[in-house]
Amino acid sequence: MGRRIGILTGGGDAPGLNAVIRAFVKRATGFGFEVVGVEESFNGLLETPRGLCRLDGAEARGLLHRGGTVLGTTNNGDPFAWPRPMGPEDRSAELAAAIEAEGIEGLVVLGGDGTMKIALRLMHERGVKIIGVPKTIDNDLSATDVTFGFQTAVDIASEALDRLHTTGESHRRVMLLEVMGRDVGHIALSAGIAGGADVILIPEIPYDPEQVAASIRARYARGRRFAIVVVAEGALPASDAALSPERRKKRLRAAGGAANIAMAQLEGRLPHEMRVSVLGHVQRGGSPTASDRILATRFGAHAAQLVSEQRWGEIVVLQRGLITSVPIADAAVTRAVDIDGELTRTARAVGVEFGG
Ligand code: F6P
Repeated sequence: MGRRIGILTGGGDAPGLNAVIRAFVKRATGFGFEVVGVEESFNGLLETPRGLCRLDGAEARGLLHRGGTVLGTTNNGDPFAWPRPMGPEDRSAELAAAIEAEGIEGLVVLGGDGTMKIALRLMHERGVKIIGVPKTIDNDLSATDVTFGFQTAVDIASEALDRLHTTGESHRRVMLLEVMGRDVGHIALSAGIAGGADVILIPEIPYDPEQVAASIRARYARGRRFAIVVVAEGALPASDAALSPERRKKRLRAAGGAANIAMAQLEGRLPHEMRVSVLGHVQRGGSPTASDRILATRFGAHAAQLVSEQRWGEIVVLQRGLITSVPIADAAVTRAVDIDGELTRTARAVGVEFGG
C-alpha cells in the first residue's frame, strides 16, 4: 500500500493528453509505482462500481499519437457541487474516502484552471495529495510558457486558412474563420500570423468595424481581390466592450458566434461577398503535432519525478524552455494576449489589422 498513484484528465480534451499519460506511466512504473487511471475526471471515484482502470506498461502502449484522452473527461464533475435534480451536492468527503479505500496515495491531475481549482480544494479541504499537469489548447496559463495542444490547434487553424485563401481568391470574397479562444486570442493571433491573415480579431482588442472595413477596402484598392479575417471565439466590437461576461456570452450565442457578428458588422460597410467558417472542435481532435508530443512527454515524465519526490501540491510547467514546477495555486492565473507584445507588434508590422 502507499505506492499506488491515480491519474485523471479533467475539463475539455487537448491533443497530447494521451502522450502525457503514456510518459507518466512509463516513468512512474520505472520508479516502482502502480498506476491506476480514473475515468471521466474525478467521476470515476464517485461511481458505483468505480470507474478505474489499470495502466501498467501494456495499457499505456500506442498512446503517443492518439488524440483525445483514453481516460475520458468531463466539464461536469465538480465533487464539491455534484449535479443533482434537487441542487448541487458536496461529495468531496466521499471522493477522499474512495481514494483511501482504493489504496491510492495521490492523484496526478491533468486539467485547466477549472480542474485545478477543484484540485486545490481537495488538497486543502480533504487532504488529497495532488500533482498537477496544465492542459489547455488556449495557452492562457501564465505559469507555463506553453501548453500542449496549443501548437496542434494553431497548425490546424493555419491549414484551414491556407484552404480559405484559395477558395476566397477564386470568388474574390472576404473569408472569415472563427477559431477557439473564448476569453483569449492566442490561437487566433498565432494562426493568423502563420496563415497570412489580413485581419485578426481577438477578445483583448475590442474592434472598430469601420477600421476593419477601411483596411479591407484599402487592400482591394491595392488590387488584392480577397481578404482573410481570423476571429477568436470571444472577439467583439468595441460597442460591446462594456458588456458583463454573462451578457457577452448571451450576445455571442444569440448571434451565432463571433465571426457571424463580425460579418454582420462588415456587411453594410463593404460591397464584397463574405463567408464564415467555424472551425470549432476540429482544433481539439486528432493527433498532436510532434512538438506537442514532445512537450506532453516532458510534462508526463516530470510529473512522475515529482510524485517520486513527494512534491505534492506542485504543477509541472515549462519556463524559459525548461521543465520545472510551481505551486498549483500559481498556475490558476490566466494570461491574455499582450496587446503591445512582440508577437502583436510583429503582426502589425507585416500589415495585420486588429481593428483597434
Ligand atoms: O478552454 C478551451 C476551449 O477550447 C475554449 O477555447 C472553448 O471555448 C471551449 O474550450 C469549448 O469547450 P467545450 O468543449 O465545452 O464546448
